[in-house]
Amino acid sequence: MKKIKRIFYGGDYNPEQWEKKIWLEDMEIFKSAKINSATINVFSWAKIQPSKDVYDFEQLDEIMNQLAKENIEIVLGTSTAALPAWLYKEYPEVGRVDFEGRRHRFGQRHNACPNSLVYQHFSTRLAGKLAERYSDVPQLAVWHINNEYGGICYCENCEKAFRIWLKKKYQTIEALNTAWNLNFWGHSVYDWDEIVVPNCLGDAMNEEETAFAGLSVDYMRFNSDSLLANFKAEREAIRQFDQETPVTTNLMGTYKGLDYFKWAKEMDLVSWDNYPAYNTPWSSVALGHDLMRGLKDQSFMLMEQTPSQQNWQPYNSLKKPGELRAQSYQAIAHGADTIQYFQLRRSIGGCEKLHGAVIEHAGTTNTRVFREVAELGNELESLGDLLVEATCPAKVAILFDWDNYWALEYTSGPNQNLKYVEQIQQVYAYFYQQNIPVDLIPIDRDISKYELILAPVLYMIKGEIVSRIEDFVRAGGTFVTTFMSGIVDQSDNVLLGGYPGPLRKLTGIWVEELDALAPEQSNQIQFADGETGTATLVSDLLHLETAESLGSYTDNFYAGQPFATKCSFGKGQTYYLGTQLDTNSLAKVLNEACASAKVEPVVAEETALEITYREKGRQKFYFIINLSDQSQKLPTKFIGQKDLLKQTSLVAEYLVKAYEVLIVKESQ
Ligand code: GLA
Ligand code: ZN
Repeated sequence: MKKIKRIFYGGDYNPEQWEKKIWLEDMEIFKSAKINSATINVFSWAKIQPSKDVYDFEQLDEIMNQLAKENIEIVLGTSTAALPAWLYKEYPEVGRVDFEGRRHRFGQRHNACPNSLVYQHFSTRLAGKLAERYSDVPQLAVWHINNEYGGICYCENCEKAFRIWLKKKYQTIEALNTAWNLNFWGHSVYDWDEIVVPNCLGDAMNEEETAFAGLSVDYMRFNSDSLLANFKAEREAIRQFDQETPVTTNLMGTYKGLDYFKWAKEMDLVSWDNYPAYNTPWSSVALGHDLMRGLKDQSFMLMEQTPSQQNWQPYNSLKKPGELRAQSYQAIAHGADTIQYFQLRRSIGGCEKLHGAVIEHAGTTNTRVFREVAELGNELESLGDLLVEATCPAKVAILFDWDNYWALEYTSGPNQNLKYVEQIQQVYAYFYQQNIPVDLIPIDRDISKYELILAPVLYMIKGEIVSRIEDFVRAGGTFVTTFMSGIVDQSDNVLLGGYPGPLRKLTGIWVEELDALAPEQSNQIQFADGETGTATLVSDLLHLETAESLGSYTDNFYAGQPFATKCSFGKGQTYYLGTQLDTNSLAKVLNEACASAKVEPVVAEETALEITYREKGRQKFYFIINLSDQSQKLPTKFIGQKDLLKQTSLVAEYLVKAYEVLIVKESQ
């Protein structure tokens, strides 16, 4: 399989929207910014297949030749994310049916019915033809199938496919009735063809909830599998002609719709699109990178980011001078081996004409954005392959699980503001602020190499997870979990015998009731040492069994009852957070958990700098990134070292300016 040998620097490129004389200008401009890769043919289906039996590769041939001549790494799209008009005209079934039951017509993108045999036929045929034609091009570096897979279809074809999927999973209709607890509201079914998709014409209460979360979660699993089957089918069509080029599709971070851990198993490389808004915390961006790295536990492609601004957010603020560079190195620090933009040249029409690009409408290199892009390009070129495939070792892991994501948010109660990613994010942000590296891992990955495992809102218990965590803690590990954990099985049926069900022994508590707090409500809390804080969202009313209390609520009718606990288990410790804590209180508990796990920050002092590292062979590369808007003191660890990027000597008084990035190499 081909490998990424140098940092890919480039992005989405749409020469088909421009005359050829512009292509030549582009090539010169790319060279001056050290752009070495282009993602093409992402939305060209209508162009390369103007009608059912006619393919026309003339223009794509020219684009490929042009890029190959310049030795640009080609990321080749299969173009199957936006369907041509003729396909809808002849086969309306390729359009999706939405939540309201409406069949969609020609338009938009990312909206083919995944279970349409017609779509499957034409998309795989196209992918195969592209592979047959271009697999020998030496500059072909990566296949980019489709684009940002997502969304849900509720059509009759999907309904039929869903029934088959269910039959395969549950075997008998009795097992299905039991799994979804269909005795509730007398919803028992006697035949597979009685099962209805969970849209608003069926069991849904709104797009997030149905009367049976088991049904909702199974539909999400099914829909994710259906889209994944589309991906796999295109991949197989490509593999008929090309076994050498890695295959990817661009993912979207914590996107809810697809079980990316399952997807990653089918992808040679993970790639993703990073579009923070002007007010997205940097810790959220870092979480996205760590999750994408965690999918395959390997470095990833940053497939898209804007060099300046987006068009589709409510407020499309510009990146400030230096911010693009800092953000790009943040991606690299967390495991990216490519820095790619959407887009290389700004379109003149369509809804993305005001989306930032390397080449702006002025058409020149004399822009602030271009200068920043070129400066970064030069720097990345000088890094060569130094960082490519370097690892990001961590002693802490947070479990992330799409089944839990769906189940927690599709269950009815206790608090509509309880959101899965926000819960993960709160815990992640603590480690981010402390500069403690974290892996985001799936429930079934080996956890024995870690010192500290966190499983916020581990609502759904699946497989061997509990016994594996028990073994981990028994052997001396530290485990942290929270309210709304250990509640249901894989079909959203409650695990009886008191919450947190199978985690009860490990946590040493029994949660008798869960209170929900509205946004204007909160509970006061007090730690054993007298420090006070605030609890919001959900508050457990819990009893100690083998655990000890870390402190109690001081108001509400459950004043005096513990809000958080700690329990020894074998050689290790478990911590349980019975409520959503304010930042300081959360940090207080997690400080203790880190101490018990002997987990330490990368640098000893508190700092607003983001500091992490990657390792390759015996070399360790520290990334020191100032994502704040003020200069920061250089941590003592780096005094006397040299910045790899600008070759500056880092003296004791050195101030790291806003958006400045330093890389310090240490040989072990
Ligand atoms: C997504 C898509 C691109 C483009 C960008 C704009 O990431 O993949 O085609 O629309 O958004 O930000
Ligand atoms: Zn469908």
